Amino acid sequence: MLERYNYRYHALDDPEVPDAEYDRLMLELRALETQHPQLLTADSPTQRVGAAPVAEFGEVRHRVAMLSLDNAFGEAEVRDFDRRVRERAATAAPIRYSAEPKLDGLAISALYEDGIFVRGATRGDGETGEDITQNLRTIPALPLRLRAGAAPQVLEVRGEVFMPLAGFERFNSQAAARGDKIFVNPRNAAAGSLRQLDPRITASRPLDIFIYGVGFVEGGDLPAHHGQILQSLRHWGLKICPQSRVVESIEGCLEYYREMGAMRARLPYQIDGVVYKVDDVELQRQLGFVSRAPRWAVAHKFPAEEALTTVRDIEFQVGRTGALTPVARLEPVFVGGVTVSNATLHNIDELTRKDVRVGDTVVIRRAGDVIPEVVRVLPERRTLSALPVVLPSVCPVCGSPVVREADQAAARCTGGRSCAAQRKEEIKHFASRRALDVQGLGDKLVEQLVDLDWVRTPADLFGLKAPQLATLERMGDKSAQKLHSAIDAAKRTSLPRFLYALGIRDVGEATAAALAQHFGGIAALRRATPEQIQRVPDVGPVVAEHVAAYFSDPDNAAMVDRLLASAVTWPDMTPKTAGGEFAGKTFVLTGSLQSLTREAAQEAILARGGKVSGSVSKKTHCVIAGADAGSKLKKAQDLGIAVLDEPGFLKLLEK
Ligand code: IVH
Repeated sequence: MLERYNYRYHALDDPEVPDAEYDRLMLELRALETQHPQLLTADSPTQRVGAAPVAEFGEVRHRVAMLSLDNAFGEAEVRDFDRRVRERAATAAPIRYSAEPKLDGLAISALYEDGIFVRGATRGDGETGEDITQNLRTIPALPLRLRAGAAPQVLEVRGEVFMPLAGFERFNSQAAARGDKIFVNPRNAAAGSLRQLDPRITASRPLDIFIYGVGFVEGGDLPAHHGQILQSLRHWGLKICPQSRVVESIEGCLEYYREMGAMRARLPYQIDGVVYKVDDVELQRQLGFVSRAPRWAVAHKFPAEEALTTVRDIEFQVGRTGALTPVARLEPVFVGGVTVSNATLHNIDELTRKDVRVGDTVVIRRAGDVIPEVVRVLPERRTLSALPVVLPSVCPVCGSPVVREADQAAARCTGGRSCAAQRKEEIKHFASRRALDVQGLGDKLVEQLVDLDWVRTPADLFGLKAPQLATLERMGDKSAQKLHSAIDAAKRTSLPRFLYALGIRDVGEATAAALAQHFGGIAALRRATPEQIQRVPDVGPVVAEHVAAYFSDPDNAAMVDRLLASAVTWPDMTPKTAGGEFAGKTFVLTGSLQSLTREAAQEAILARGGKVSGSVSKKTHCVIAGADAGSKLKKAQDLGIAVLDEPGFLKLLEK
C-alpha cells in the first residue's frame, strides 16, 4: 500500500490518500521494522525519501545533500526542539531563529556560475535529482542571471516551486472546461507542471518560486546569519518569501506560528506549516544533522486539513426553502484542528458525481472555518455491499413529495410551512445574527418552540410571554425574562435586515439592501410587479419572480401583516437616498478590506445616499478595491472607471 501511495504521490503527482494517512502508515512500518529488524529490506519505503528519478530526465548529483525537515506537531514538540538546540549549543540564552512559511510545492536546486543560471534539479532522493534546467528556465520569477553584486562565483540556491492559488484555480477551471484532468491541489499542480519532459508545457503553467537557502558555495563568502543570507539572495535578484523574518527565541517562533495560522487563508499561496531555522550559520554547522534532517531546523506543521474516515450513514437535511442537502454522518475524525462527525455533500448532483455510499472510506476536508466536506471516496476500500444512495421521493421530515425543477441543483420538499424542518429553518434564519439578531435564541431553542407548536412562523415569536418561556427545559425565570427582552429588542431593526430576515429565496443581504434602497419602504415593495422589481440594480428575472411570488402568497402576506402589527419597525430610508454626498452615485466593492467589513462599507455608502452594486459596468462611478482585488478591478481599469484603494475610500468617508 505504501509503495503504491508513494508512487502515486512522487512519480505521478496524483496522491490517493491525504498526507496524514501516508505519514501514519509510514510510522507504523517504521515501528514494525524497529521491533522486528529481520523484516527490514533494502527497498522498504522507509529507506528512501522520495521516488527514484524518472529515466528520461538526466541525473544531477547534489554536491551538498538536499536534506528534509523533521516535523513538529504542537507546541510541546517545538519546545523540545529548542531545548535540544540549546543543550547542544551549551547555552541557556535564547536562540535567534529565521521563521519562514513552509511552502507546499516542490523543492528545487538552482546553480549559478559567474552569476549565470546553468543547472536546475529536483531533490530526488536527496543525493541525486532530476535535471530540470530547461523547465526551471521557464519560471519568470527565477533570474537567469544574477543582478550585479558580489555573489560567490559558484552559488547553488535552494527553494520551492509552487503554483499560486489564483493560478491553480484558473488552470483547473480551464482544464475542466476542456474536459481535461484537474489537479487535486496546488502542490501536485506544481510538481506535475515542473516534471514535464516538454518545457513548453511547463512554460504555460503559472509557476512561481521562493528561494529559502543555499547549497554548494565556492569563490565568495556569504553572511554569517541565515536571515542576512536571504537578504543577500534578494539583493542578487532571487525571490525570497516576503513573510520570512528573524525572531528572537522560541516564544517568537510560536508567535510567528499563530500569526501565519491566522493569515494562512488570505495568503496567495498554499502553506502547510512554518519552518524555524537556527539563524547563526556557525551554530548550524556545529549542530549538524541526523540521517536526513538537520538538527538546526524544524517544520512546525498546521493541523492536517484532510483526513480519512468512514461513512456511517447518509441523511438528507431539509433547509429553509425546502432544499434537500445530503449530509454524511461520519466515524468521528480529527481534522483541521477539530473533531468532525458530519460533512456536507452539497446537493444530489454532487453526491452522484462523487458516488459516496454508506460504509465508504472517504477523504474529509476542513480548511479554516469552512464547513467540512467529503472530497472523494477511496474506491479500492469499498465493500461489495455498498449501494448507491438515491434521492428520496418524499420529504424525510414531513412526507410531502420531493420535486426537482429543471436545471436546478436542489431537490426540494414541497411542504412549505407544513414541514416542521422548513418552519424551524425559517425561524432560525429570521432570528440569526445578520437578520433580526435575536440574542440568545439558538437553534436548540427554536427547535423546542416549533416542536411544542408554540411558534409556527416568525411572527409567533413576538406573541411569546416570559412566564411561558420559563417553563421550557433548562430555562429559569431570569433567562426567560432575558430572552423575552431580546425578542422585544429585535423589533427595532432596519429595512434591509427585515427583508433579509424574511428568507425569500435567493434574497441575500446584498439583494435585500438593494431592494430596500430602491423601494424605500415595505409597502411599495409588496405592491411591485416582477417587472418593477427587476429595475433594482443586480436583480434579475428569477429573483424578481421569487420576491413577487413571496409577497403575493396569502400566508406570507398575513405573516408580514402580523409582524408589522407587532411593532417591528425601522428608521425611514427615503431621506437618506434623496440627498447625501453620494446621491446618484453607484459604487462597487471588491477585494478584502482590512479596517472595516464589507457590510460596514456598504452601510457607509448607503447612509450617504449612494448605491452599491455587485458588478462593474459603464454606470459604475467608483470601484473600491481592497487587497487581492481581481476581475472587477481589471474591468474598472479597462472601462476607465475611478478606482479607490482602502485608504482613499476612508479619506472620502471622512470628508
Ligand atoms: S529548508 C535543510 N525552508 O519542506 C533544510 N524547506 O519537509 C531543508 N519547504 O524539502 C529545507 N518551505 O521542499 C525549507 N522555508 C522552507 C521551506 C521548505 C517548504 C519544503 C522543502 C523541503 C521540505 C521538507
